Amino acid sequence: MVAELGSTGTVADARSGAGPCSGWGATTQVVKQALNSVPILSPTPHGAASAHGAGWMDDMGIDVAILGYGAIGRSVHLLLAQHPERVRVLGVLDRAVLAKEGPKPSRRSAGPPEARVPVLDLPTAIKRADLVIECASPSAVRAHGPEIIAAGADLLVASLGALVDERLGAQLHAGPGRCHLSTGAIGGLDLIRSAAGAIEAIELETVKLPAALLHPGLSGTQREDIERAQATGSPVRVFIGSVPDAVAGFPSNINVAAALGLAAGDLSVVRVSITADPTATLTSHTITVRGETGKHRFEIRNFPDPANPASSALTARAIASGVLHLAGVGPHFI
Ligand SMILES: NC(=O)c1ccc[n+]([C@@H]2O[C@H](COP(=O)([O-])OP(=O)(O)OC[C@H]3O[C@@H](n4cnc5c(N)ncnc54)[C@H](O)[C@@H]3O)[C@@H](O)[C@H]2O)c1
Repeated sequence: MVAELGSTGTVADARSGAGPCSGWGATTQVVKQALNSVPILSPTPHGAASAHGAGWMDDMGIDVAILGYGAIGRSVHLLLAQHPERVRVLGVLDRAVLAKEGPKPSRRSAGPPEARVPVLDLPTAIKRADLVIECASPSAVRAHGPEIIAAGADLLVASLGALVDERLGAQLHAGPGRCHLSTGAIGGLDLIRSAAGAIEAIELETVKLPAALLHPGLSGTQREDIERAQATGSPVRVFIGSVPDAVAGFPSNINVAAALGLAAGDLSVVRVSITADPTATLTSHTITVRGETGKHRFEIRNFPDPANPASSALTARAIASGVLHLAGVGPHFI
């Protein structure tokens, strides 16, 4: 459930699926598992430079920190808590929680008892965790991603819109930590990545509740369109355009568009349309891919996350599934 911008290929390699960075590591894993051999060690240079000074994908499991403890972060935590033998959640980093509780490992975050974990600051998280799981915001990826990667820890990114910025993508690629991309709220990215280089066009039609699209940084026109949908009770198309423009207008709401462009290895093949529909009970993403491999169409209809209608309930599961994959829990579809 994760794609990797590895430390041995270029960003372009990783995005096109042509690079050596993720392919060799993944193949190695499968062969080792087929031979029933343990431990599964990372063949990339990261292993030697990781927070724990050794290849971390071994039979001891992995230590993780969660950056962003909102709707998705809390769900991810609960999902990972079901696999204590493979994944240990060391703590959480969240600007709201930090502001309230301070970075004291002895302090526990708020929430139900099963979801109380230490509140960490970034230096502590980087020092102790093998993997930082970002489920905060594109600005969190910009602010902390390069430091995490440069310190040799790995990063799993949910806020993929941040990677529309090629300079940031290059920083996250520079290693020695590795950057993994979550599949988030959609499926089919494996197919799109397989077809990368042979894709003529991808259309994404996203339909969400108006409230799930509202945010403080909206342009006047887009806010008016969304409010018109709310007032009339009828669907209104509020955006049509490129991935960078979609991400600029709706930074935390349209990570799916960035995921498609990154998987295709070319943001420019993706055309995005966003509709605010007050009657939508599900968030839908209809994805049509045309190219030399044929015509592929995915319709994904997600229940919104009960704690945040802007996110889909599937996203936390996708992140947890990706972490478990990294921790060696199969089956592994590659
Ligand atoms: N890839 C996908 O398909 C997909 C789908 C949904 C959401 N997302 C991403 O996941 C993010 C989180 O979603 P959510 O529903 O949990 O949102 P949320 O608002 O419920 O929680 C986000 C949490 O992150 C914290 N946070 C934000 N920026 C931070 C920073 N710079 N440093 C520290 N903490 C920070 C906030 O305080 C908040 O507690 C979204 O912003 C979006 O970018 C991705």
